Amino acid sequence: MTHSSDLPARVTIPALLQKKQRGQKITMLTAYDYPSAYILDHSEVDIVLVGDSLAMVMLGHPNTLPVKMDEMIYHTKAVMRGCRRSLVVGDMPYGSYQDGMSQAVQNGIRFIKEGGCAAIKLEGGKQRAGIIAALVEAEVPVIAHVGMTPQSMHRFGGFKVQGKSVQAALSIVEDALAVQEAGAFAVVLESIPAPVAQVITLRLRIPTIGIGAGLHCDGQVLVWHDFLGLLDAKPARFVKQYANLYSEMLNAANSYCREVREGLFPEEQHKYDMLETEQFLDRVEEVYGNYSAYPSDEGSFQKGKV
Ligand code: KIV
Repeated sequence: MTHSSDLPARVTIPALLQKKQRGQKITMLTAYDYPSAYILDHSEVDIVLVGDSLAMVMLGHPNTLPVKMDEMIYHTKAVMRGCRRSLVVGDMPYGSYQDGMSQAVQNGIRFIKEGGCAAIKLEGGKQRAGIIAALVEAEVPVIAHVGMTPQSMHRFGGFKVQGKSVQAALSIVEDALAVQEAGAFAVVLESIPAPVAQVITLRLRIPTIGIGAGLHCDGQVLVWHDFLGLLDAKPARFVKQYANLYSEMLNAANSYCREVREGLFPEEQHKYDMLETEQFLDRVEEVYGNYSAYPSDEGSFQKGKV
């Protein structure tokens, strides 16, 4: 039996609120599977988000709209197997909460019950306040997401920076205040001007987590494939690539292909030996005659060369 003291202490929602009060930054990154979750859980990251961005970076869709609840739950379960320390948050996909409170609560509970995560994230401000309150009432902790909400891409005409005019900026401030009042414990601010994010961060009790929202948020979030440079695509302006794994992985695949073609892989240490090789080969000769499936350099089978 494992004693609870053997496990690393889990990041909790109260601990995140305390971080804001103490002026300590919160770190969040996305993960979608067991290995990525395992790596992040061994890093210092606070929150692992199973983002609906997986529709794009894992499943190859052009936007986040097609991903379904069942797919999100499938990935959340895999992430949970890799996370013992960090707080895992499941992202409500498009169509899982827009139909009203009862649908939202049902799907929020699915994330907690089936996915095993501690909280959910959903997109929208004032217009989602009722849904957020219903989820919180049902013991589903919520991170809200305002500004450039990718599920609204058709209304925005693409993934466009939001809140550039005074009126639009004030509307995002109202969204952030509304989701706080509804009970969200944090809010993601995506692709908005830095001064707007700074004002929101100063006015809210709950932490703000920025992506394309400048330095003055309480925390930051980036997508796994973006910060690792895993895709061969021009990143958005707000992305900082901390590695170039696309090149590393491409080089590794090409080195493997070259070594297989040139007979350099597998090497001595990659093969399994057999104690009774001689007896085995004698027996093969008895049963099959002069066996030539493994030709020597000269083209005929030689026992000593196996
Ligand atoms: O889906 C996602 O990865 C997100 C983050 C970018 C916040 O919503």
